[in-house]
Amino acid sequence: MSIYILGIESSCDDTSAAVIKDQVILSNLIANQEVHRTYGGVVPELASRAHQQNIIPVVEQALMKAKLTKNQLHAVAFTRGPGLLGSLLVGTSFAKAFSLSLGIPIIEVDHMEAHILAHFIQEADGSRALPSFPFLCLTVSGGHTQIVLVKDYFNFEIVGKTIDDAAGEAFDKAAKIMGLPYPGGPLIDQLARQGNENTFRFPEPLIPGLDYSYSGLKTSFLYFLRDRLREDEGFLEKNKADIAASIQKSIIDILVKKLEMAAREFGIKDIAIAGGVSANSRLREVLHSKSVALGWNVFIPKFEYCTDNAAMIAIAGYFKFLKKDFAEQSVSAYARR
Ligand code: KG4
Ligand code: ZN
Repeated sequence: MSIYILGIESSCDDTSAAVIKDQVILSNLIANQEVHRTYGGVVPELASRAHQQNIIPVVEQALMKAKLTKNQLHAVAFTRGPGLLGSLLVGTSFAKAFSLSLGIPIIEVDHMEAHILAHFIQEADGSRALPSFPFLCLTVSGGHTQIVLVKDYFNFEIVGKTIDDAAGEAFDKAAKIMGLPYPGGPLIDQLARQGNENTFRFPEPLIPGLDYSYSGLKTSFLYFLRDRLREDEGFLEKNKADIAASIQKSIIDILVKKLEMAAREFGIKDIAIAGGVSANSRLREVLHSKSVALGWNVFIPKFEYCTDNAAMIAIAGYFKFLKKDFAEQSVSAYARR
């Protein structure tokens, strides 16, 4: 018998619902919240309200696209945290009410674990190669930068992490300094394609071990632009693509250097990336070249499973369903772990 699970993701500014049949995604709908763009970042109160407006239509569409009725579902999985509390409460409360009305269990999912488990989403024809344990996963999002040693579906060890800003934050802050709207990561990626990444150089952080730091890079980027703009007020406009390509190179090289160290240290060649920044085209290119040079087996999720989505919540829910790992109705969201 196949297992059908509805996944709900509402940790930040995207309301998403997905339906999974065992390990295969049948639908994955995302309602983006345009409302935050003009503010240069996510406004928590506006996000909560938009989730409340979006969640029912998004779930309805996810079921419709999956050609399923709600009575065919076996469980509802939802993001319990980490994220914005008001946003998480919308998804959590929806999941509770929906499961009560249908008489099916609820499954709580950790957002960061779900980003990693997105690697186990299978194609309908079973054609996708899945990573085998243990593997290393570079988890890079707007809030996290971690190297995770993945020993089993729910057995993770964080072996390196950022001591200040996350890589996605570094992208977004650099974009903001360049006057680009939020979230700037994808815009820097786009601009960089027309630029020369070796035009400008920024200092590399000197952090021991497998940890990361991005706050120094952000500051030096800020001063770099301020100084160049003093000399020539058209500097940014004239060099936009080269600036984007150069800062992107710095951010990605820092990520990959520590990942390479970790791979050597643990003797692991199965390397995965997860989280919003894994959508970055330079990171993907560099990893492909490492797979040739170092014999890595590189696992990169499909584009739509990199940034926040409910498909990853549904797959995590599926593995928990198999363990009968269900949550109580009294479960509450957490902003941080
Ligand atoms: O995982 P995610 O969607 O949300 C969080 O859980 O944070 O990650 C969002 C982050 C943002 O900082 C965004 O700028 C970054 O991922 N991002 C990118 C790209 N696409 C999204 N950064 C660089 N290049 C991209 N193509
Ligand atoms: Zn995320």
